[in-house]
Amino acid sequence: MKILITGGGGFLGQKVARTLLARGDINEIVLFDIAEPSTGIQDARVRFVKGEVSDVGAINALIVNGGKPEIGGIFHLAAVVSGQAESDFELGMRVNLDGLRNVLEAARLAGNRPRLLFSSSIAVFGTPLPDVITDATTPTPQASYGVQKLIGEWLVADYHRKGFIDGRAVRIPTVSVRPGKANAAASSFASAVIREPLNGIDYGCPVPPETLMWMCGPRDVVSNLVRAFDLPSEAWGVLRAVSLPGIVVSVAEMVASLRKLGGEAAARRVTFIKDERIQAIVKTWAAKLETPRALGMGFTTSGSMDQIVAEYIEDERIKI
Ligand SMILES: NC(=O)c1ccc[n+]([C@@H]2O[C@H](COP(=O)([O-])OP(=O)(O)OC[C@H]3O[C@@H](n4cnc5c(N)ncnc54)[C@H](O)[C@@H]3O)[C@@H](O)[C@H]2O)c1
Repeated sequence: MKILITGGGGFLGQKVARTLLARGDINEIVLFDIAEPSTGIQDARVRFVKGEVSDVGAINALIVNGGKPEIGGIFHLAAVVSGQAESDFELGMRVNLDGLRNVLEAARLAGNRPRLLFSSSIAVFGTPLPDVITDATTPTPQASYGVQKLIGEWLVADYHRKGFIDGRAVRIPTVSVRPGKANAAASSFASAVIREPLNGIDYGCPVPPETLMWMCGPRDVVSNLVRAFDLPSEAWGVLRAVSLPGIVVSVAEMVASLRKLGGEAAARRVTFIKDERIQAIVKTWAAKLETPRALGMGFTTSGSMDQIVAEYIEDERIKI
């Protein structure tokens, strides 16, 4: 099968590509992104195409391919993340909404009913929040990013219902620890509070220690994304989106895991420097979820924050 990963140059896109390459059923992977993959994937089956999801011509060239569609599966991961979608409304709409529409339209026009996995987010949930978000909770996003993701879920469901695609969407928890540089996501602190001190850098956390987050580690989310893609269409039923499992972690617990696995000196690098803008967005997010539907579909979750930090140290070969 030939796979297209939009946002394939990003954090999760590159990890998904590596996981897919490790198995035998993938002939070619096209990584489509405005930015080249930072880690450089050396594999003859991988092709990088630089381009914008908002560029209809570029998307059609890949997916419709002049009426001879070759792409059997699409991971649509390209997105402007939460902080940026909030500060630059036009960019968020153009990439997160118009970009998805372009991909869906191209998939429809291709006529081969490709399988499409859309990376949604738990940011579809917002205030007023019940104590616990369940599979039955009505999404009420309170930031443009969450609104764009929710509209995306509905579009994927409708293109699926019409028989244009085999569509599915997963609501991803905050993924930590993200290696490399901080990104523009409002949740960026959930990685930076671990990553920067472990790399010898002082970190001013923009939210208070009692802030709760619904989180998972990169290993879990990547295996869940691939599982979401692999599951037979019938496993999803009428509902084409699902909230992925995760764990509830406070920032204080993140620092405790940092102390336990990275040492006292690393934990002391964390200070708390309030950022009203970040706090205002994070305050509207869901932190406690119950995800029986996802667990029943075989999706998995990291055991603990300690495990997430340990995996980061191992995967990124951090010297303690
Ligand atoms: N990482 C998380 O915590 C998290 C949580 C919830 C949802 N998600 C979703 O998962 C997906 C992947 O996230 P990630 O963490 O890998 O983010 P990322 O920022 O590392 O990757 C997104 C990629 O999209 C690319 N991109 C942005 N605008 C584009 C455009 N106009 N055309 C083509 N490519 C464009 C970026 O260059 C980037 O490489 C995103 O859709 C994100 O919204 C991630």
